[in-house]
Amino acid sequence: MKIFVTRRLPIDPRSQLPRGVEVDLFEHDRPPTPEELRSRARGCHGVLSLLSDRIDAAFLDACPSVRVVSNLAVGYDNIDVAACTKRGVVVTNTPDVLTEATADLAFALLLSVGRRLRECERLARSGDFGFWSPTALLGMELSDATLGIYGFGRIGRAIARRAAGFGMNVVYCTRTEVPALAREGASPVDFETLLSVSDVVAISAPLNDATRRRFGAQEFGAMKRGALLLNTARGAIVDEAALVQALEAGKIGGAGLDVFEDEPRVHAGLLQRDDVVLTPHVGSATTATRVRMAELALANLDAVLHGRPALHRVD
Ligand code: GLV
Repeated sequence: MKIFVTRRLPIDPRSQLPRGVEVDLFEHDRPPTPEELRSRARGCHGVLSLLSDRIDAAFLDACPSVRVVSNLAVGYDNIDVAACTKRGVVVTNTPDVLTEATADLAFALLLSVGRRLRECERLARSGDFGFWSPTALLGMELSDATLGIYGFGRIGRAIARRAAGFGMNVVYCTRTEVPALAREGASPVDFETLLSVSDVVAISAPLNDATRRRFGAQEFGAMKRGALLLNTARGAIVDEAALVQALEAGKIGGAGLDVFEDEPRVHAGLLQRDDVVLTPHVGSATTATRVRMAELALANLDAVLHGRPALHRVD
């Protein structure tokens, strides 16, 4: 039995798999090209993929021996799940283990943008920060501000828990019913209300047909003047050009973005702005979380290859 692992992991994949499973590891610090992905996965029974690896019908047709695609991510919009299901290929992901790390990053972005850390940092390092001033570098007070969370799954709820500790009022909008006990003190609202009442909107939804470009000119227009936008989910949920325009117009007061529409490219209009904090898709990037993700992705592969149910199967 053979698997293809599309990038170096924080653990040795061989240490997690039974003898008899051969591992082909893509040893570069870049994703394989579609051709490399196809040629290396050909003849393999499983693939451990990353969110930058496109697994589509063309790939599946070129690699008919692949029985399982184990994505090292909670999101799986890089995979055509319907095409996999049609061919009997099992798709798995790595939820839960990355929830807290990703919510931490959302809060890091919120504090950085809300308290203008880019400007503060630069000034403090410049050697000339002047004197303490009652009027300089004033930011947003989180206590009593309203946080609107778009998407209220595991990560959205973890963001809500953190917000409660900061004394924020929290509302959320999601497609699924959330039992009262899982609401973390947050109140459900419709999308329009979320936009109109929130001082900060945090996007925490999966990317799919319903969420793609959900935030555009009209939505920014409906938000409070000066509100902040956070996105730690998927870049394509936001129309980046419209966001740049809303920032330029002062309609949106700042943004904290970990994800981008066309990664690894970042919209030029975001790059120089002080009211925007950018991170390169590192929501789950802590050692403990990445180790757990790798272990879970390998356990998913191992289970399916050996005829057991996956720990986290995507349907
Ligand atoms: C990262 O973006 C993930 O989906 O795990």
